[in-house]
Amino acid sequence: MAKVLIIGAGGVGQVTAHKCAQNPDVFSEIVLASRTESRCRQIAGQIDRPIKTAQVDASDKDQLVALMEREKPELVIHVALPYQDLTIMDACLETGVHYLDTANYEPPEHATYSYSWQWAYHDRFRERGLMALLGSGFDPGVTSVFTAYARKHHFDRIEELDIIDCNAGDHGKPFATNFNPEINIREVTQKGRYYKDGRWVETDPLAVSDEFDFPDGIGPRKIYLMYHEELESLVRHMPEIRQARFWMTFSDNYLKHLEILQNVGMTRIDPVKYQGVEIIPLQFLKAVLPDPASLGPDTHGKTCIGCLVQGTKGDERRKYYVYNICDHQQAYREVKSQAVSYTTGVPAMIGAKLMLTGAWRGAGVFNLEQLDPDPFMEALNKHGLPWHETFL
Ligand SMILES: NC(=O)c1ccc[n+]([C@@H]2O[C@H](COP(=O)([O-])OP(=O)(O)OC[C@H]3O[C@@H](n4cnc5c(N)ncnc54)[C@H](OP(=O)(O)O)[C@@H]3O)[C@@H](O)[C@H]2O)c1
Repeated sequence: MAKVLIIGAGGVGQVTAHKCAQNPDVFSEIVLASRTESRCRQIAGQIDRPIKTAQVDASDKDQLVALMEREKPELVIHVALPYQDLTIMDACLETGVHYLDTANYEPPEHATYSYSWQWAYHDRFRERGLMALLGSGFDPGVTSVFTAYARKHHFDRIEELDIIDCNAGDHGKPFATNFNPEINIREVTQKGRYYKDGRWVETDPLAVSDEFDFPDGIGPRKIYLMYHEELESLVRHMPEIRQARFWMTFSDNYLKHLEILQNVGMTRIDPVKYQGVEIIPLQFLKAVLPDPASLGPDTHGKTCIGCLVQGTKGDERRKYYVYNICDHQQAYREVKSQAVSYTTGVPAMIGAKLMLTGAWRGAGVFNLEQLDPDPFMEALNKHGLPWHETFL
């Protein structure tokens, strides 16, 4: 029985709040705090258990410390934006609170993805006897656990890893992103990068593509090579991996709009003077695009995210695929959110549950693949993200 503080009341925060509320034996008290408190109250109003709400600017450590000292949570689930990872970790260290997030720190002024800033907190968390769990969403998160599960049960040695993320859903809008538009577009427009034989190979954005035949009636789709943060931690924690790549599907419509937005400068993240005021074009674009949390009612179809793993067990060469299918409308019926928020909020709750029940315990900063995958895999089946495995 523990009190949890959820920070961020967007699409993912909404699912996380619902899923924690569904498990009162673990999450006995829930506080939901965000920059805009009215949004927290709106989410609390959907849930038939008392959820306390608060206003906080998570980029301000003093505000965070005051909130944590007032509420005294055991754990913070951070599902606001990656820009706030370090201030929230600092506040956790100061107040003695465990920490969990779903996305690695990004400096607002550069679209740079690295765990190095957060890994640098390891000794401070260890000395304080606190645990920080990094990247407990789907990718990173479940994909990290899938890889650890494959390594534990099916392989002596993983040689090649392909993480493949397909959103085969349709929201009916000309252009919208399924999670925070600013973070999504920064991620998709960066250079591609994959790991091969001990070094990183860079590619132009979305320049490398392939086709993958997805299960459950989704069928063949074009997939694009991108950089994704779990590649960095997986090759660090499983140094035997020779090649690690991340792939994502995009509709032609999404790519067409993105290309035009890039061409006209709307995805820039450097400040531009407009009528005497400095604005960041991508932040302005976010303000006019649909809010991902609003896409739930109209999004139909499924997501399929999984890991294709190749390597050896004894003398045998193996090719193994483990994946989850999530239906947008089913997610909406349960928690009033589409499947992209659902597939992130459920693993955030599961990571928190494993920390609070002691199934996952440690002092320091951890990525999910460093911990025993079995209780997490069991919890996925129980809490709405069942997985399937097959040898190809
Ligand atoms: N690992 C994964 O699989 C995965 C997948 C998808 C998303 N994610 C991550 O999940 C996080 C949330 O995504 P989302 O789609 O829910 O985004 P979202 O809908 O934009 O929600 C972000 C929330 O954070 C709040 N916020 C922003 N800045 C804040 C600040 N300084 N202080 C307090 N609250 C602040 C926003 O408040 P306002 O309403 O005031 O703007 C909003 O409620 C992102 O970090 C994203 O990268 C991870």
